[in-house]
Amino acid sequence: MKFFVDTAEIDQIKELNDLGMVDGVTTNPSLIAKSGRDILEVTKEICDMVSGPVSAEVVALEADDMLAEGRKLAKIADNIAVKVPLTWAGLKTCKTLSDEGTMVNVTLCFSANQALLAAKAGATFISPFIGRLDDLNLDGLELIEDIRTIYDNYGFETNILAASIRSANHMSDCAKIGADVATAPPNVIKAMANHVLTDKGLAAFMADAKKAGISIL
Ligand code: E4P
Repeated sequence: MKFFVDTAEIDQIKELNDLGMVDGVTTNPSLIAKSGRDILEVTKEICDMVSGPVSAEVVALEADDMLAEGRKLAKIADNIAVKVPLTWAGLKTCKTLSDEGTMVNVTLCFSANQALLAAKAGATFISPFIGRLDDLNLDGLELIEDIRTIYDNYGFETNILAASIRSANHMSDCAKIGADVATAPPNVIKAMANHVLTDKGLAAFMADAKKAGISIL
């Protein structure tokens, strides 16, 4: 499973990218607003740092305006994936941009039917939001499973990009189900390293090393 990092914070992307943990980046208008940066400038900086797909989201609602924004975003770099919402206008924009050879990430997906439409419209990525479904006591992981089944049944090449990831467990659950990509905030990716038994075991090893006077350097 590929890891995308879900942030527009340059320092945090760099730290994970230097470790080889970043296969791509996702942003959205809320993350850009949080960064306080200009969308075109910060997106260009991210594209220069990361070799994989970098999702940049349109803010228009009508198809013509969305298409104009998408074409402008696509000019930033070759690794841009234009992010469009899963609306009828977003699907139209997806089809046109995909036909032009631009990667498209269809976002705000909450149902298998929506994912089916995105694949038909030629999406490179479909982003089902599992955390926001879980927040409503619905099963976000079940949606990933359903989309996996449907895409495999018909050989759709659209990549399932599990989004709205809230915990380290979401990451391994998505990998078990067969999501192609999961995008998570940097703190969630880092939390995947944590285990209480690792901490406990390390404390015991350090205590024994101190007692025995073990010195390596
Ligand atoms: C990524 O593409 C999405 O914009 C993001 O994962 C949404 O996450 P949230 O539901 O935690 O805002």
